Amino acid sequence: MKRLIILLISSLSITAQAQPSDWENPAVLGINKLPYHATLQLPSKQKACKEIVSLDGQWLFHWAKDPESRPADFYREDYDVSGWDRITVPGNWQLQGFGKPIYVNMQYPFHRDRPSVTGEPQKDWYAYDHRNPVGSYVTFIDVTKEMLTRNLILHFGGVHSAMYVWINGQKVGYSQNSMSPAEFDVTEYLREGRNKLAVEVYRWSDGSYLECQDMWRLSGIFRSVQLWVRPLVHIADYKVEAIPNDDFSQATVTADITVCNTGKLKAKNVKVSFNIDNSTLHSPLFTLNSKDTTTVRLTYLLDKPLLWSAEKPNLYPFSIELGEEHFDYHLGVKRVACEGEVFKINGKNVKLRGVNRHDHHPVTGRYVDDATYEKDIALMKQANINFLRTSHYPDREYLYELCDRWGIYVMDEANQESHGYGYANRVMGEDPDWREAHVDRAVSLVQRDKNHPSVIFWSLGNEGGVGPNLKAMHDAVVALDTVALPFCDTDRSQSTIYDDGYLTPDRLRDAARKVSDRPFMMREYAHAMGNSMGNFQEYWDVIYADSSICGAAVWDWVDQGLVKKEGGVTYFAYGGDFGDKPNDGPFCINGLIGPDRKPHPHYYEVQYVYQPLQFVQEGDSVCIVSRDCFTDLNEYDYYCEVYHNGELVSGCIPILHGDKFEIPYPYYPYNEAELILNVYARLRQDAPWAEGDRTIAREQFILKPEEFWSAFGGTPAKVQKTAQGLVAYTDQGTVTIDSSGALTSWIVDGKEMLSAPLEPYFWKPENDNQHAAHFADRLGVWREALAKRTYKSFRTETGDDGLKIISETALPIGADLTITYTIVQDGRIKVDMDYRPTAANIPLIPKFGMRLRLPADYTNIEYYGRGPWENYPDRKRGAFIGRYAMPLGEFETEYIHPQDNGCRTDVRWFKISNGKTPLRIDGLQPLCIRAWDYGEEDLESATHPHEIQRGRFVNLNIDLNVHGVGGVDTWGQRTLPQYTIDGNQPRHCSFILGGS
Ligand code: GAL
Repeated sequence: MKRLIILLISSLSITAQAQPSDWENPAVLGINKLPYHATLQLPSKQKACKEIVSLDGQWLFHWAKDPESRPADFYREDYDVSGWDRITVPGNWQLQGFGKPIYVNMQYPFHRDRPSVTGEPQKDWYAYDHRNPVGSYVTFIDVTKEMLTRNLILHFGGVHSAMYVWINGQKVGYSQNSMSPAEFDVTEYLREGRNKLAVEVYRWSDGSYLECQDMWRLSGIFRSVQLWVRPLVHIADYKVEAIPNDDFSQATVTADITVCNTGKLKAKNVKVSFNIDNSTLHSPLFTLNSKDTTTVRLTYLLDKPLLWSAEKPNLYPFSIELGEEHFDYHLGVKRVACEGEVFKINGKNVKLRGVNRHDHHPVTGRYVDDATYEKDIALMKQANINFLRTSHYPDREYLYELCDRWGIYVMDEANQESHGYGYANRVMGEDPDWREAHVDRAVSLVQRDKNHPSVIFWSLGNEGGVGPNLKAMHDAVVALDTVALPFCDTDRSQSTIYDDGYLTPDRLRDAARKVSDRPFMMREYAHAMGNSMGNFQEYWDVIYADSSICGAAVWDWVDQGLVKKEGGVTYFAYGGDFGDKPNDGPFCINGLIGPDRKPHPHYYEVQYVYQPLQFVQEGDSVCIVSRDCFTDLNEYDYYCEVYHNGELVSGCIPILHGDKFEIPYPYYPYNEAELILNVYARLRQDAPWAEGDRTIAREQFILKPEEFWSAFGGTPAKVQKTAQGLVAYTDQGTVTIDSSGALTSWIVDGKEMLSAPLEPYFWKPENDNQHAAHFADRLGVWREALAKRTYKSFRTETGDDGLKIISETALPIGADLTITYTIVQDGRIKVDMDYRPTAANIPLIPKFGMRLRLPADYTNIEYYGRGPWENYPDRKRGAFIGRYAMPLGEFETEYIHPQDNGCRTDVRWFKISNGKTPLRIDGLQPLCIRAWDYGEEDLESATHPHEIQRGRFVNLNIDLNVHGVGGVDTWGQRTLPQYTIDGNQPRHCSFILGGS
């Protein structure tokens, strides 16, 4: 019985103990499992495949909080399961009402004591009372007489974390290694009619020690279950490889097709065929003994092959046939190589513009449906991402098919992370008792995915061990495939690429210079948690300047929020929201897109920085720098738009001359105007991932800069002293300034415009990055800076430009602050804010400007500045200057973990209205504006968006500058200094408040 393997590895240390359970024994990886093999039928064609019977659907289910309370003999045919609950397969049981999801980053949520998972943890941990929950599943399989003449294979796409399988009361086998398929030959167990399939799933197993990934820890049968009804003599596996020659003029295709005879009789005249490129290759006829397996090699020469790359995902469909059996797949011709320290694909120094992605769905958890896969890959392509790391385990097969077809380079990662024992630990990396468990995860990875052209790296896992176990994984990988390169983050001796993560741009430059024996990459960088992704362009300035840096992958793609319904509210939950303990709170909310696949503002920054074309102004021309390796400039369409003060004045199609085109200056001159040129490159052809908009690159040039109003003036407003301060009378109404310098009342046409005064304000709530970098501790003095000011003078002056009300104060931090209101008869107010430090070592200023509150009905916004989405000083390149209009609700960004949000930078003017009396703000230099229907205090006290108290007023911050969001990590790195506000420098900000 060559095919049926029993993975029982003997080990003295284990056999010496009392018989451990299979699921607490690293020597038992599976019992009766069939060998791992390639996905035989292209995932998109599986539904139509006659050999596959889907067992997905509603199964009967029982959940027990620990192994002791499980219904131990439920697999028996006479066991009554009629009263059991129903559960959807595939799915995670915690998301269907059974037990709690747990979100933890790098610790084991059970008592760490390998290989045991049932030791006593801390009393307040969920695992204390739920020592190892067990899900017992039952379904029934209808089998015909005809099916029994065949070979019947039970296929589980993924089960977390370990399972036993029975059919009709008979034990079939056992499996762990949760993210890879498990298959059992069940021919002998099935009978005609109805058959009982029983599966017992353990939440934790010794395998969990290798599955300590930063994600929701979910359990159950979470990928499809199939019964394959196969001819007795069938294709067990195949590997089709296409190796190009030196100059890529030809490629040798090798199809190694493994055939097995599961029947009782010798099979004669067996023949396999391989159809490719309109040719059919046949093997000679051969004989195969009962229970025997053989591998046949067929080769074919592709002349002038169209190479596969993410830019040009050329595929050669092929099929493999054996008798009535027919499987379709596709191959891609490519070469991945490290030449010294330069990484090359098809001979070109490709840059990997990457992202990490967890297989996450907000409702179905670890099961992600096809439509969501399509959405994800389309959104990645639209963001110019060309590289995906399947952090931190193999995803469902269809994802790879999409990457093959639509063009994404893939780092396929083994399900190996022993982080609970420490990053790069030796405990798991060196222990020989755990060697096979490591290797099993490498073998299952490569065996299943070896025929996907998109795979360019086999990653041995994430943040696991160092030592011989990693070497054994590496050796297993290269023994199976040499087209894709082995990669390892923890054990660099086992990696073709030198990896380091989360470096600042400067440290990346320095680190890459020091490594000279291989290419350099950051498998993770730009931690996209919350309102983040500052300094993204700075990374790519470094990466493009150094041919030895092959790229970097953002952490990560999608916020891992889970839909939770509580009372009448539905929201995205994070760690702790289910009462899960231990937990790491919102640390799983790090995506470029929300759980609902809605892009965050920083998604668009990635889209811009990752674009394959860059446009540079050279005199009267725009020069195009291409980052493409396999696409010519003239394969795109180009389009220009010219804007005058934000209004489109002309659109045109520029003509390329080589890599340049002339700037289309509009035909009439604009004075006093801002003149802006927007340039776009578009795909010429429709692509399956480009819905509607085919723009792949864009740039904006300011041809003639805005001349911010320098002259302001008019008839001075009349002024009167009152008990509260000073009241100025204008044609529109009154303006009251109190002796502290705050504008406390502004009556226009008989209506009060303000819900709270306009006054200087220096605080902004933290975002996640800032919180981790102790922003509040470092800069918190600015919160109270104004309240603790001392008054120096309060006076009026009447000048040529209007009535001036001047308030001079001293801030306890060691700075003088002067606010000057210049008020003219027609009702406009110019506000000048002057800051002069008088002491040394003043902390950074969170934001420099003022704040006011308007009545709650001020919800219509129009502005001329960067947008339409949120942007900050260190994350604004992808947000072009333009005129935008939107309701307040869209101006804010609702982060799953509430934090500072919604800024628009480089604002020239801003209008907010209740439909009747608008407020207009004109900057005398570019402004940063944030507007919310809640206050800073509301935002800071909420842990979820629905807890924010909204709608009492509109909070408006008008600033010269705001502290940048930061973009390195969320565990201490600060915003780069160039995007902060030095408190030791004098500053001036002014703007005009008006009514129309
Ligand atoms: C990385 C790790 C990821 C994730 C990230 C922080 O070091 O590989 O899985 O935990 O940190 O969000």
